[in-house]
Amino acid sequence: MEKILILDFGAQYNQLIARRVREAKVYCEIVPYDITPKEIKKAKPKGLILSGGPSSVKWSDPPLPHPGIYKLGLPILGICYGMQVMNFQLGGRVGKVRKKEFGRTDIKVIEPDLLFKDLNPQLVGWMSHGDSVKKLAPDFITLAKSVNTPFAACANPQKKLYGVQFHPEVVHTPWGKDLFQNFLYHVCGLTDSWTMENFVRATVADIKAKVGRKKVLCGLSGGVDSSATASLVHKAIGKNLTCIFVDHGFLRKGERRQVRTAFVDHFGVNLIVVDAKKRFMKRLKGVTEPETKRKIIGEEFIRTFEEEARKIGKFHFLAQGTLYPDIIESAAPGKRKGPTHVIKSHHNVGGLPDDMEFDLIEPLSHLFKDEVRAVCLEMGLPHNLVYRQPFPGPGLAIRIIGEITNERLRILRDADAILREEILKGGLSRAIWQYFTVLPVIRSVGVMGDERTYEYPVVIRAVTSEDGMTSDWARIPFDLLDKISNRIVNEVDGVNRVAYDITSKPPSTIEWE
Ligand code: XMP
Repeated sequence: MEKILILDFGAQYNQLIARRVREAKVYCEIVPYDITPKEIKKAKPKGLILSGGPSSVKWSDPPLPHPGIYKLGLPILGICYGMQVMNFQLGGRVGKVRKKEFGRTDIKVIEPDLLFKDLNPQLVGWMSHGDSVKKLAPDFITLAKSVNTPFAACANPQKKLYGVQFHPEVVHTPWGKDLFQNFLYHVCGLTDSWTMENFVRATVADIKAKVGRKKVLCGLSGGVDSSATASLVHKAIGKNLTCIFVDHGFLRKGERRQVRTAFVDHFGVNLIVVDAKKRFMKRLKGVTEPETKRKIIGEEFIRTFEEEARKIGKFHFLAQGTLYPDIIESAAPGKRKGPTHVIKSHHNVGGLPDDMEFDLIEPLSHLFKDEVRAVCLEMGLPHNLVYRQPFPGPGLAIRIIGEITNERLRILRDADAILREEILKGGLSRAIWQYFTVLPVIRSVGVMGDERTYEYPVVIRAVTSEDGMTSDWARIPFDLLDKISNRIVNEVDGVNRVAYDITSKPPSTIEWE
C-alpha cells in the first residue's frame, strides 16, 4: 500500500498531521524520529513528513533524524521544528526569533511552486515557534514569508525537499488540507487510494492469511471498536470466530438485544452471551465507594470472560479493538519506543491470564476513531451501533450513586431510555457527546395527586465535548427538558423529581463516579 511516514519529534499535533494525510485518502504511519534509512527503505514510503516538536536545534543534544534520510531521494515536508531540522542538517542556520510568533499570522506566498499550487498568495496560517531558519540551506529557495520570518516556507524543488514554519495541520490553517494535498499528490505523486473499502478488502485478506483455519476469540462490548473488529474477523474466517458478550447487568435498555440482532441475526456470528448479572450483584452488595465498585466490576468481568474462554477450549488468536491513538507513543528525545511494547500492556488490560497462550489480532491498530466508524458502515453495521455515544465499561453501576439494587437499576434504565428516546427525536443525538441519567441514592418529598411522595430524584447529565477530556454541559432547549422531565416522573415508578447537571469538566467529570 502506498504510504507516507511521519517522523515524530514529539509534536503536540502529530496525530493531527496523520489525520490530515488520511483525510487526503493517503495512508500514513507515525514513526520515531530516529528511524534509520534502512528501516525507511523497508517500509517503502513515497514521502516523509518531519513533524514539529518542542525541541530546539540549538540545544546541546537535539533530537535529529538520521542524516541519511535526505539521500533516499524521497520527497520530504518539514513542519516547524521539522523545517528547522532539515535546514540545520543540510547546512543552513537556525536561531531564536526576536519576537516569538504564536497564533494567526499573515503569510505571503512568493514562489507558488507545487506546495502552494492553486492557493491564494495571501494566506493566514497558524504559527507557534521560538526558533526560525535564519539562513536557508544551500540550493533552497524561499516560498513564503511572514512579518516575523523571511522563511515561512522554503524548498529545494530539485530534491523535493519542502519546509513550512507554520502548522498546516491545525484547524486555524483552514487551507492546510490543500497544502497537504499538494505535497501528497503533486510532489510525492500519490493518489487518493486510502478508502475504507480498500482497507476492509486488504484487512480481511491479511486476517485470512494470518489465521488460516485456526480459531479466534473476540470480546464484544457493543461498542464501535469491538464491533468493527468482530465484523472484520468474521468476514475473514466466519465460523472460526467466537465472540463473547458479557452482560454484567449494567447495560442500557435494549443493548443486549441490539448486539444479538446485529451480530447473530444479521451476520450469523458465533456469539456467546453470558448472563452474569447475579455474580456481579452478589459481589457489589453493600458497596458504595466508586473506586471499589469499578475495581470489583473490572475484576469480575475478567474472571467471567476467562471462564467462558476456557469453556470454548483452545483458540489461537484473541482479536481486540485497539486503535491507533492507543499505540502511538511520542518518540520524544531519548525515548524510542515501538508499538510492540504497548501492545503488551493492552493485552494485560484485556485481562486474560498468562497461562493462556494466544496471539493478538488487532485489525484496527492503525485506524482513528472516525475511520473505525467508516469501517462499521462499510461492513453494514446499524447506525445506532455505529454512532453510539461513549458508554463506560462499568455501565449503569457507576451512575447509581450509592449501593446498586435491582429496583434502582430498573429506575435508572427506564429513565435513561426516555432521555435517549427524546434526544433522538429532538434531533440532538449527534450534537451532544453524551447524555444519560444518574440516580443519586437520596429521597425527597413530592406530591402526586393528593398524596405525599418520598422518592428518588433523577439527574440528567448531557455534555458537549471533542474527546471526553474536557466538556461543557449541553444547552438542551427548555421545552425538551420539560418534556423529558414530565415523561420521567410520569412513566418511571419511584421518581418524583428531575434535576439537570449544569457543570462543565473540569471541575466535574462527565460520569458521577
Ligand atoms: P469522566 O467521567 O472521567 O469520563 O469525565 C470521560 C469519558 O470516559 C468515559 N468513561 C469510561 N469509559 N471505561 C470506559 O470505557 C470506563 O471505566 C469509563 N469511565 C468513564 C465516560 O463515559 C466519558 O465518555
